[in-house]
Amino acid sequence: MLSPLSSAASRADATPEPAPVVVTGATGYVGGRLIPRLLEAGCRVRAVGRSLDRLRIRAWASHPAVELLEADILDRSALLRASQGCRVLYHLVHTTRPAPAAITGLDLQGARNLSAAAAAGAGSPKTNATAPS
Ligand SMILES: NC(=O)c1ccc[n+]([C@@H]2O[C@H](COP(=O)([O-])OP(=O)(O)OC[C@H]3O[C@@H](n4cnc5c(N)ncnc54)[C@H](OP(=O)(O)O)[C@@H]3O)[C@@H](O)[C@H]2O)c1
Repeated sequence: MLSPLSSAASRADATPEPAPVVVTGATGYVGGRLIPRLLEAGCRVRAVGRSLDRLRIRAWASHPAVELLEADILDRSALLRASQGCRVLYHLVHTTRPAPAAITGLDLQGARNLSAAAAAGAGSPKTNATAPS
């Protein structure tokens, strides 16, 4: 299976693809490093985070192929908007509140919410999720 990075890089022209690659956890360590790589590969990116203010200060935020979108992983209607029309989704959210004991449950609930939204909004895009560490 080709990753979006390799498939985009192998295209002859550098025209951004019409369907975006969605990255949740865009303000996080992994998401913030993945997005520049996707842009270099010619992908359109929908960067999803809890705070538009925190997204806007990223170096890649004003790139013409980037769309910023605010969505909490527990907000199902926001996740529907976030996943609408995407072709690939990288889920890189890692919750840190309210307490360590609740983290795994919140991460799991968030992943389920996003999976359901993606299936409803985008016709089951490829999903790349990381397991809670
Ligand atoms: N870092 C590593 O070396 C590493 C290695 C292997 C796997 N992973 C996995 O990769 C994933 C991401 O890790 P990371 O290190 O990038 O984590 P991180 O730096 O802690 O970032 C977590 C991201 O999740 C977002 N987030 C937290 N709660 C949210 C919520 N309720 N709704 C929406 N977004 C929420 C945060 O947004 P805010 O800015 O709004 O807080 C942030 O963007 C995790 O599953 C982790 O286990 C990480």
